[in-house]
Amino acid sequence: MSGTAHLPQIAKVASSSKSNLYNAIEASPVSPHVGAEISGVDLTRPLGNEQVSELHDAFARYQVLFFRDQPISFDDQIRLASYFGSLGRHVGASTISKSTANELVRKFHYDETSKQISGENFHSDQSCAEIPPLGSILYNHTVPPDGGGDTMFASMYAAYEALSPNMKVYLRGLTATHDGRRVFGPGTPVSVHPVITRHPVTGREVIFVNTDFTSHINELPRLEGDRILQFLFDHCNKPEWTCRFRWRPHSIAFWDNRCTHHKAVWDYWPNVRSGFRVQIEGTTPPIAA
Ligand code: SIN
Repeated sequence: MSGTAHLPQIAKVASSSKSNLYNAIEASPVSPHVGAEISGVDLTRPLGNEQVSELHDAFARYQVLFFRDQPISFDDQIRLASYFGSLGRHVGASTISKSTANELVRKFHYDETSKQISGENFHSDQSCAEIPPLGSILYNHTVPPDGGGDTMFASMYAAYEALSPNMKVYLRGLTATHDGRRVFGPGTPVSVHPVITRHPVTGREVIFVNTDFTSHINELPRLEGDRILQFLFDHCNKPEWTCRFRWRPHSIAFWDNRCTHHKAVWDYWPNVRSGFRVQIEGTTPPIAA
């Protein structure tokens, strides 16, 4: 049996035959399982109620929203975030991204002096926090001239649904430790979350472990837990449930941290990729499935 034998059962984000499900925005899926490009909105101005409500629906459905040609200010970026919750604070003491004059907006700038970039492994943001962020909004005003610097996203709904029935039973009830010190150094949080969680809005199950932060599964002997984690890391980031976003100047990616992983591809050194990111506070600890 192939590793993708369960693929036909995966609920696809674009299962409707209607090309656009909405009245006040347009949403074009970019892959069968994750991501949609949103048009018909101007994020430099406040949005109408119907647009906000449809963006909420699209966010729950597609898990990652992409916007093009949006030359936004900090205030515009914060306003977009505020439609979904309160602005959150990064838990890392010293990270590769830097705070700006507005401490809730972080600068993501890489150039010929960069030794490292943020987010090169598939991960969900700050899963080491007791309540990890709901999501993040990354705006890039400057991108490499010859392409490169894409961000990849993976649907943890699709990854969960493709597990064998036996594996789903085995994982249920297990918890894992997420250790922020592995990424951000001393003083960052360490938290325990269920291995399989339930999205607080959609109620759908997801795999909630990731390469960067998850150190071990608490209820298993170390070797067994390490092998299971490695299986899950490899499984979660299979190309079958990913999409790859090619940035253009003034593009935005807005991802749901509760049901996706993402990875920044650093193939553009010594060119410049530059922008700003805000994060939105989560509302509950990850809920056990
Ligand atoms: C990150 O948030 O991990 C960085 C994503 C990116 O720069 O594409």
